Amino acid sequence: MTSFQSVTWRDQKLVLLDQTMLPHQTVYRQYEDYLDVVEAIATMVVRGAPAIGVAAAFGLVLAAQAEQNSPNLIASLNLAAEQLLAARPTAVNLAWAVKRMSKIWADPAEGLVAVLLAEANQIYLEDIEINRRIGEHGQAVVPDQAQVIHHCNTGALATVDYGTALGIIRIAHERGKQIHAYLDETRPRLQGAGLSAYELQAYGVPHTLIVDGAAAHVMQTRQIDLCLVGCDRVAANGDVANKIGTYGLAIAAQAHGVPFYVACPLSSIDLSLPTGAEIEIEERSGTEVTHIQGVAIAPPHTPVYNPAFDVTPAAYISGIITEKGIIYPPFSAGLASQARD
Ligand code: MRU
Repeated sequence: MTSFQSVTWRDQKLVLLDQTMLPHQTVYRQYEDYLDVVEAIATMVVRGAPAIGVAAAFGLVLAAQAEQNSPNLIASLNLAAEQLLAARPTAVNLAWAVKRMSKIWADPAEGLVAVLLAEANQIYLEDIEINRRIGEHGQAVVPDQAQVIHHCNTGALATVDYGTALGIIRIAHERGKQIHAYLDETRPRLQGAGLSAYELQAYGVPHTLIVDGAAAHVMQTRQIDLCLVGCDRVAANGDVANKIGTYGLAIAAQAHGVPFYVACPLSSIDLSLPTGAEIEIEERSGTEVTHIQGVAIAPPHTPVYNPAFDVTPAAYISGIITEKGIIYPPFSAGLASQARD
């Protein structure tokens, strides 16, 4: 287990590591009210597709605890599910976790709160194992002495432990592969600088921080073996929604003949959407762009467009690494068979 924990359940409360305070301060916050969990997901106290799914599952346990002796328990759970779902739209893991939990109260049993808690704990434990397996499968595409470009944060902070793309990098290092990662800083929320660099430093993995705009230059001037990214939703045809900037990185990778791999759990696959064009892209506040840590970097009232994610077409993706193995193009059949099994 990593020394920090993004999401934990302790003494009937949800505990979240406040990722808005990293890398400077390690602050854990306790949650007793599911509405505060909705707020924590929306404001990115907890972030990363798998981690917000796990946080939402425990948020539903909090909602059930608060109403456990009330005749309104099921109605309250339905309302909580709706509000948690609305907190962030792009990462399908949130909807996946809420749906999995809601199956339990659709057919309520004796001791519903305990059953919901057991399911949330199960989702939590499965996430650790799933990410460990993604990390294992990913070793097949990581050569010894690999030079990798990574975007956003996909590590233990974005999951319960290990992480997806960053988990592959971490396990490669643990296996003695002499891997080196170039970390995109990931404007505007700087997950690469604040979170991925923090994690790789903690694991002792050699890394170099670059601005997002440097990635193509790095591919042109240094030997890069592959790009590794996570994802928030995969459509049935293999189009992938991930943190804004991923699409540009994929185009640059193809232009330079650099393999581009996406790592994700099967809970990120959304077979209900035929292509990435149907994925809802979250737009966030313009102040994320006009300000850095509260300091304005643009004139007041500057108009801003701030999509938090983009869609990388399947044609730019070399492979999708899940807990069941690597899916290669064309993706439709492999995604369908892995996600439906
Ligand atoms: O907006 P965030 O910080 O929640 O976005 C995180 C990402 O986009 C990750 O790359 C993604 O969730 C991959 S999952 C490990």
